[in-house]
Amino acid sequence: MAEVIITRTVAELRRIVKAYRKEDETIGVVPTMGALHDGHVALVQEARRRAGRVVATIFVNPSQFAPTEDLSKYPRTEAADLTRLREAECDVLFAPGVNEVYPEGFTTTVSLEGPAAAGLEDRFRPTHFAGVATIVAKLFTMSGADIALFGEKDYQQLCVVRRMARDLDLPIEVIGVPTIREADGLAMSSRNRFLSPKERGLAPTLHRILQHISETVRSGGDLEGELAKGRIAVEEAGFRLDYLEARKADDLAPLASPNEAPGRLLVAARLGTTRLIDNISLTPSSN
Ligand code: PAF
Repeated sequence: MAEVIITRTVAELRRIVKAYRKEDETIGVVPTMGALHDGHVALVQEARRRAGRVVATIFVNPSQFAPTEDLSKYPRTEAADLTRLREAECDVLFAPGVNEVYPEGFTTTVSLEGPAAAGLEDRFRPTHFAGVATIVAKLFTMSGADIALFGEKDYQQLCVVRRMARDLDLPIEVIGVPTIREADGLAMSSRNRFLSPKERGLAPTLHRILQHISETVRSGGDLEGELAKGRIAVEEAGFRLDYLEARKADDLAPLASPNEAPGRLLVAARLGTTRLIDNISLTPSSN
């Protein structure tokens, strides 16, 4: 198994990438906050298939957490993450400290509309996407990568990052990778570890409800009616629902009917203190 080069400074990352460029290698970047699971490994593997060299980043980005969200509770598991990256044949791990990313006097943020203001995650986490877009823009320019891989699990994030890269003419292709699920359908997430055994048993219900709505609507069921029934089903299963919505898959604008445009069902709900999100296509034969 090849060793992963670990770097914690932008200057060293740039030196490494420059050397790869001299060898005519293309670069894929996989931005993460660590606590890596099979979903992240799938991103690294997809980057491996598409690019000559793969840079994974681990940075628990303070600016995407609201003061009410527990940044200090976010799992930090770098040694185990490194093993996973080695197994996935990642070339470089960029794991900077907070001062390397946000030095004294840092004041710039990316300002967003469009998919970032779709009334989904942004309704519950109003400052989140400005923090995500700012760190992702920085990671893109720090790594100088040709492609960047993001999981479809955070579907609104994927749409926001895609739009940002396009709007700011960042020379990078943003690629979405289908959600990796546990055997019972629960979308893999670093936050699943916070579920109690009872909550873990209930958690896959969210995906089953999405699947049921998607199948029913695709075979002619009424979208609004199925969403209304789905919202009740989520609450009855023991979740506190934040939203369950159908949106256009490309820009997250409201979707009146599945025939209008490719659609996506998106849900966020809380089980105890853990907030779960998931999404599924309304179009046949995609994740
Ligand atoms: O999805 C995540 O893990 C984070 O939001 C990201 C994209 C790494 C930015 O901090």
